[in-house]
Amino acid sequence: MQQLTLTQPDDWHLHVRTGELLKTVINHTARQFARAIIMPNLQPPVTNVSQALSYQQEIHQATSGEYNFTPLMVLYLTNTTTIEDVQQAAASSAVHAFKLYPAGATTNSDQGVTDLDAVFPVFAAMEELNLPLLIHGEVTNPEIDIFDRERIFIEQKLSVIHQHFPQLRIVLEHVTTQEAVQFVTQAPDNISATITPQHLMYNRNTMLVGGIKPHYYCLPILKRETHREALIEAATSGSPKFFLGTDSAPHLTHLKENSCGCAGCYSAYAAIELYAEVFDQAGALDKLEGFASFYGADFYQLKRNTRKITLEKTSWEVPEFYSVADKSRLTPLKAGETLHWKLQA
Ligand code: DOR
Ligand code: ZN
Repeated sequence: MQQLTLTQPDDWHLHVRTGELLKTVINHTARQFARAIIMPNLQPPVTNVSQALSYQQEIHQATSGEYNFTPLMVLYLTNTTTIEDVQQAAASSAVHAFKLYPAGATTNSDQGVTDLDAVFPVFAAMEELNLPLLIHGEVTNPEIDIFDRERIFIEQKLSVIHQHFPQLRIVLEHVTTQEAVQFVTQAPDNISATITPQHLMYNRNTMLVGGIKPHYYCLPILKRETHREALIEAATSGSPKFFLGTDSAPHLTHLKENSCGCAGCYSAYAAIELYAEVFDQAGALDKLEGFASFYGADFYQLKRNTRKITLEKTSWEVPEFYSVADKSRLTPLKAGETLHWKLQA
């Protein structure tokens, strides 16, 4: 049987929520990954170090003792984030970045930033203190077409942030377009990007042809095939600017299969297996370890992991759902389908 042994990977973009949903999802991540960057878009959001520490504690308590898993915390940038908040974050070994959600861009982003210029002093402090800025890169103007929102954010906002703060380390999260790949590729080394499994596997036809399929709905929304191809090329290029970030974003099944369905794909249950499938199909399994296990750690200036994991090429069926507190359901990406790589226990 074909096997693939890798340095243990990390997930550089993950939503785990709180309470029962956290308990359902966290061990799916912890069985594969050594570390994960934990998104702060709770309600209310995680905006300061003391909230991050109590959230980290809740995650630790929900994680099975059999795993050696470290949640890396992130603070949510608001209009009222202060320079002191940045100083405290920089001094905390638990906090690794700030996340910029343009207000209204996605799930729980209503307390996000409404005026970028107003947070420039905060960006200056982050640049000075070497704290990365993670960006949900979409404009929110109602008149801008949803499929153009990432491209226009890059043209109008990201390039301005980068010009004003040339040393600020930036991760353009979950890139979905050719333009994003091009911007990141041409930028200096302090600009990088994460790529999700769903944006590598699917284009917008998957979501919209033959009926609307809400489990493929996420933000930024799936784009056309040419963009997917650009993402595959970037992820498998061996460029250290592109690394693994699932954006696994659990929502209960009834909230996705809904007349106003939530955005987010639940991929954490098989994240490394999904990426292995993508890299295998692209004939680039030799590039998976850099993407999954090295480049993100290098960008965050953390040590690479030393433990190893092994994947086997063997078929298995994805469950139709995972139970949440015995009464609700969580539908995984590829529910009921067959995967071809499996992580050894
Ligand atoms: O699809 C998404 N879901 N995109 C995001 O940016 C947020 C996430 C969530 O928190 O559900
Ligand atoms: Zn996200």
